[in-house]
Amino acid sequence: MGSLAFEPETPVFDPATLFSRRVQRWEPGAIRSLLPLEAIPGMISLVAGKPNPATFPFSKISVTLNGPDEKTLVLDGAALSEALQYNLPAGHPGLLKWLEGLQQAVHGISSDGSWMCCVGNGSQELIHKAFQVFCDPGDPVMLETPAYPGVSAFLRADGHELVEVCSGADGVDPSDLERVLSTWPEHRRRPKVLYTVPTGSNPTGRSCTEINKARILRLAKRFDFMIFEDDAYYFLNFEEDPSKRARSYLALEQEVNGETGRVMRTDSLSKIVSSGMRLGILTGPVPAVQKVVKITENVNLQPSTTTQVLALTLFRHWGYTGFVEHCARAAEFYRGQRDAFAAAAERHLRGRATWEVPTAGMFFWIRLLLPPGSDSFELLSKKGIDNRILAIPGMAFLPNARKACQLRASYSLVSVPDMDEACRRIAKLVDDAWRDEFANTAKADEPPVVLPAPRKITA
Ligand SMILES: Cc1ncc(COP(=O)(O)O)c(C=O)c1O
Repeated sequence: MGSLAFEPETPVFDPATLFSRRVQRWEPGAIRSLLPLEAIPGMISLVAGKPNPATFPFSKISVTLNGPDEKTLVLDGAALSEALQYNLPAGHPGLLKWLEGLQQAVHGISSDGSWMCCVGNGSQELIHKAFQVFCDPGDPVMLETPAYPGVSAFLRADGHELVEVCSGADGVDPSDLERVLSTWPEHRRRPKVLYTVPTGSNPTGRSCTEINKARILRLAKRFDFMIFEDDAYYFLNFEEDPSKRARSYLALEQEVNGETGRVMRTDSLSKIVSSGMRLGILTGPVPAVQKVVKITENVNLQPSTTTQVLALTLFRHWGYTGFVEHCARAAEFYRGQRDAFAAAAERHLRGRATWEVPTAGMFFWIRLLLPPGSDSFELLSKKGIDNRILAIPGMAFLPNARKACQLRASYSLVSVPDMDEACRRIAKLVDDAWRDEFANTAKADEPPVVLPAPRKITA
């Protein structure tokens, strides 16, 4: 008898060949794994310790949208009970269906059964779990550098060897990646993951080109590793012509490699809907996403149902077109912020620093032209605070921390007058550093001061 299993048309790489030892130890959550069976018609479930909705203190959640029509979305009755109740570990089924449709529309991937989405309490949580799926503590991990410290911090704490891969104006440098992989010592465990932020990278604001992504995808196949595509700023892209925006790794994989299954993509609703709702999305090969869900089942049960249902209600109201239009408006807002910051930097920092104007996201990566041997960490943590200016020193973005003269400046929240003042204060820090340097050099060059011998004072 023939198998009824669904066979995707495109060859699919099996990521299980790269799974960590530790992830094999997770077993299905005893309660969570039974919950989907509750949906079978006629089932009487005595499974979960779900609270009875009769005890919920809320009767309605109503939210009014910004915008000319000030539309109000209301959750009450059964919808509210559902929103306040436990739900499935992978995420609310209605939201998952909507998100999978979004990924198909945005990245042009077909629903061939080889990939799936799951929702997490923010994308950071999903990235952390995805690393557990592929890496054991101490394993080497490749990071696009400069790197988002939210990820390098937990990798360092897990004892991973952090392998830096340079990024330049066009994102991760495939030649550097190839160098790392082709010179990897025979006797050492090979890295199984490359972590990258391809659009409006945190901290550099740079985006990876499609040419580089294609080269990196080929290297992933050749050297057998996974690409963790953390695309938190995907929808905050300032390139106006959509055809000029680089497609995602997820979108390109089949075309470039003739197979799928090596991309674990995370999206975040934090930068486009709300960071407080804590919703992130993982899209990847089914066996790997299922392992992430298994960790969720055992560790934190599920992402918040309340915020998922709120998001789903909003998304159903918007539809895919409304969602994309909202993101475009958000990008437009940040483009204005970027332009204002670029103008302030131009006014105060020209000659004192260098930078590239970011193509997406929320950050300027500014290289201060400091006296030799100086470091932005020391400068910001001492003089910066005295001068009432806070920014993140470059050292925080170098996985194997070392001195750096860069800083990361976020322009998402600052008012235009404050941008001007911030750049003026940074300029002053640079000027003061040089003044101190000259003063110290001058002191070193001066002949030693010889005090006259004290004279005896006689009456
Ligand atoms: C590159 C990157 N990835 C992930 C995150 C975390 O996002 P979330 O709020 O979805 O957990 C951030 C937050 O700033 C980020 O900059």
